[in-house]
Amino acid sequence: MIDIIPIQKDVRSSGFDALFTVAKAKAVKEFHESLPGYEATPLRELSALAKHVGLKKLFVKDESYRFELNAFKGLGGSYALAEVIATKLNITPAEVKNVEPNSFTFVTATDGNHGRGIAWAAKNLKQQAVVYMPKGSAVERLENIRKLGATAEITELNYDDTVRFAKSQGDANGWILVQDTAWPGYEEIPGWIMQGYMTMALEAVQSLGDIVPTHIFLQAGVGAMAGALTGFFNHYYGDKKPTIIYVEPNKADCVFQTVKANDGTLHAVTGDLDSIMAGLCCGEVCTVGWEQIRQFGDYSVSCDDKVAADGMRVLGNPLYGDEQIISGESGAVTTGLVYRLMVDADKAPMRSELGLNEESVVLCISTEGDTDTVNYRRIVWDGACGLIK
Ligand SMILES: Cc1ncc(COP(=O)(O)O)c(C=O)c1O
Repeated sequence: MIDIIPIQKDVRSSGFDALFTVAKAKAVKEFHESLPGYEATPLRELSALAKHVGLKKLFVKDESYRFELNAFKGLGGSYALAEVIATKLNITPAEVKNVEPNSFTFVTATDGNHGRGIAWAAKNLKQQAVVYMPKGSAVERLENIRKLGATAEITELNYDDTVRFAKSQGDANGWILVQDTAWPGYEEIPGWIMQGYMTMALEAVQSLGDIVPTHIFLQAGVGAMAGALTGFFNHYYGDKKPTIIYVEPNKADCVFQTVKANDGTLHAVTGDLDSIMAGLCCGEVCTVGWEQIRQFGDYSVSCDDKVAADGMRVLGNPLYGDEQIISGESGAVTTGLVYRLMVDADKAPMRSELGLNEESVVLCISTEGDTDTVNYRRIVWDGACGLIK
């Protein structure tokens, strides 16, 4: 099941637009370059796959190589922690590495990747982290966070309620909430997290050189990553801005529901949010992200788990000559969508609506590797596509 709707643009500028300039992205990337283990992640050109499905070019950036984290999220956590400490102590982010150990405790909610990034960033700075996860979270993801020295536990709550719980624990204990989503009154720290994500986009355009994509597909949980990259791409490409398409699981499609309602308010999805795309199982849109999406985004897509499973198999089993990409559920959904749109006969109207054809140059980001190896093998080896119940 795939649903596509165009975004009725609301072009009024927002107070957040200046967060995502090219100059800021360059400064943030310089910060990341100073971190241990920094290397730009590879941008793979999948020429055989592009030819096979009828595109001019298809690029996939492989974030499984990001630091030691198997996902892009540490970019946001590391930058935000540095900004938080620098602001509190009136020093520069570069000076933060000399801060007295255990001066700060950071708290967050996560479906895995963000919490692992925060735990890693806190460990690098010799600070403390407390991480809460929604019910149903994979034990492997929990253990990966604990291995980095954080206190972590799985709650009985869904993602959005886990965020509220993390906030209340922070308020009660004097911990600093470093959450990868924003709401009115809590926008500065998420803004820094989102700025951190821009390194991924800057690396991508640097790898592309003179090649300008016609279409960029971005997966959305709360829409913070998608919003940040949209803001960056708008500044970077100006009049040549590619068509930007957001992709969400139909069980947690808060951006899609907000686009669909088109009534000037954000629309939440509630309940269990049970999709295999754990990283995208968020029911409430990030305010700062939405301000970019509503101005510069072009289409919103809601799709079922099968699309993500297809993407994992396609990327993990490349055609001769293409590189293999180990891509997890949330990482693979965009490539899975491109694949389905291009090869299914009944998707011809969607292809033509998006303008996808043999002249198209497509950019996707595989935002995670096999962060849940048990499910990765169930899906890629055993051909499953739903959740283990
Ligand atoms: C692998 C992966 N991709 C994409 C996203 C979506 O990011 P956002 O919640 O900012 O929309 C997440 C969020 O956790 C994620 O873990």
